[in-house]
Amino acid sequence: MLHSALGRDLEKPSISIVGLGYVGAVSMGCLSHLGFRMVGVDIAKDKVDAINAGRPPIVEERLRELLGEGVEAGLISATDSLVAAVQQTDVTLISVGTPTADDGSCDLSFVRRASGEIGQAIAMKDSYHVIVLRCSVPPGTTLEVVAPEIEKASGKKLGPDFGICFNPEFLREGVAVADFFSPPKTVVGASDERAAGRVSKIYEMIDENVIFTSIAAAEMVKYVDNVWHAAKVAFGNEVGRICKALDIDSHDVMDIFVSDAKLNLSPCYLKPGFAFGGSCLPKDLRAVIHLAGVLGVCVPLIDSLLESNRSHVTAALRMLEAHSGKRIGFLGLTFKPGTDDLRESPTIGLMSVLLARGETIAAYEPNLVLGPMLQRQADYVRHAVPGQARLMDKLESLAVADAGTLVSQSDVIVVSHATDEFRAALTRCANSTVVIDLVRLRRQQVSGGNYKGIAW
Ligand SMILES: NC(=O)c1ccc[n+]([C@@H]2O[C@H](COP(=O)([O-])OP(=O)(O)OC[C@H]3O[C@@H](n4cnc5c(N)ncnc54)[C@H](O)[C@@H]3O)[C@@H](O)[C@H]2O)c1
Repeated sequence: MLHSALGRDLEKPSISIVGLGYVGAVSMGCLSHLGFRMVGVDIAKDKVDAINAGRPPIVEERLRELLGEGVEAGLISATDSLVAAVQQTDVTLISVGTPTADDGSCDLSFVRRASGEIGQAIAMKDSYHVIVLRCSVPPGTTLEVVAPEIEKASGKKLGPDFGICFNPEFLREGVAVADFFSPPKTVVGASDERAAGRVSKIYEMIDENVIFTSIAAAEMVKYVDNVWHAAKVAFGNEVGRICKALDIDSHDVMDIFVSDAKLNLSPCYLKPGFAFGGSCLPKDLRAVIHLAGVLGVCVPLIDSLLESNRSHVTAALRMLEAHSGKRIGFLGLTFKPGTDDLRESPTIGLMSVLLARGETIAAYEPNLVLGPMLQRQADYVRHAVPGQARLMDKLESLAVADAGTLVSQSDVIVVSHATDEFRAALTRCANSTVVIDLVRLRRQQVSGGNYKGIAW
């Protein structure tokens, strides 16, 4: 996988890197190893001197060897002049710090300054240049902060004169070199094809399957990854503390947990959709929260999950508030498709609130047959959630016989199961009908006009 390509390949773009910290220094060493001519820039003189001497400015395995090789082969140099670095190269990677500001936001002052200086440099350049932001930043930064700063300072136009990309860095300190050559994924959001083409040349030896997406999605991916990693660490540690209090070996438990790649470490349960419900998740979550309380173990993440789930139902209610007084029809009542189980269905929760508010509601559920079957389910719900008893008393009278009837008799349709039956029924709804999609019936559909997705 490692190509010892020392010696410059003229097909390869030459690359400047602004910021020679953990990300920049590793990129210098690794990209020079792949044969790229690298020019590093930093405002810290000691980092510039270190790189020029082939010494790593940070501690990272294999970095000394890679930087030493690169300097010896004449592929690496460093400077404190950003203008000089940009002028000598085809692509500029920005990897300056984005620390936390006093108000908790992401401090973009280093990014702004670097962007302005890059603008000044490309003002003096005749050839097309690509700027690649590699810092972790809030979505919108590349196009709303970096690009305008460059345009202002250069007097040039994004598109014809320069391209811009966001390419998040996923390396982990300590194994950063290994991660660079074998990345978990490579994601590029590009301003246009020309910019994307130039950046893809950088990665062709490392990753054949670069994921091209919008710049904003690429920015968001990096944040989502890190929030997810934080959630995993916090979750594992909370489980560990509960296990310890119960004298159970937490590593035995989590070894089994992670061995389940079908439901636990998999795409399952990770797509934005409606709230969780059913006969197991809420009940067992309450039991674990109670158990932790009895044991005196503090588990704020696990504690927060029911509240988070309620906030999602509230989000659906807010969407429906705009349609108060209209006929609201629900496609799907059970907590998920393919079951007749109504227990703790979030859709039932939603309908109960609307009924209490005096709204006109109706529903169709293919897995519930009117009569004793429905009454048995209603009895479960009455027993478990007394607040939903009124809806259960009326459910039979609110139910319609098929999806087509529900669609034709409703001004607003709330979809809570992604099934072919519901997709087909909705193709026949009137143009004026509002569809509130809680499950994303069609992957390509985005909110707009009378179609509203709860989280897309
Ligand atoms: N450290 C990681 O493991 C890691 C991993 C993925 C992403 N990131 C992200 O990458 C970015 C860089 O992180 P880092 O840990 O390498 O930061 P760092 O603080 O180690 O390095 C940033 C460098 O940028 C230099 N700098 C600041 N302004 C400059 C300017 N105008 N011109 C030239 N140099 C300038 C600083 O002197 C510093 O050496 C951050 O957005 C971070 O969130 C970091």
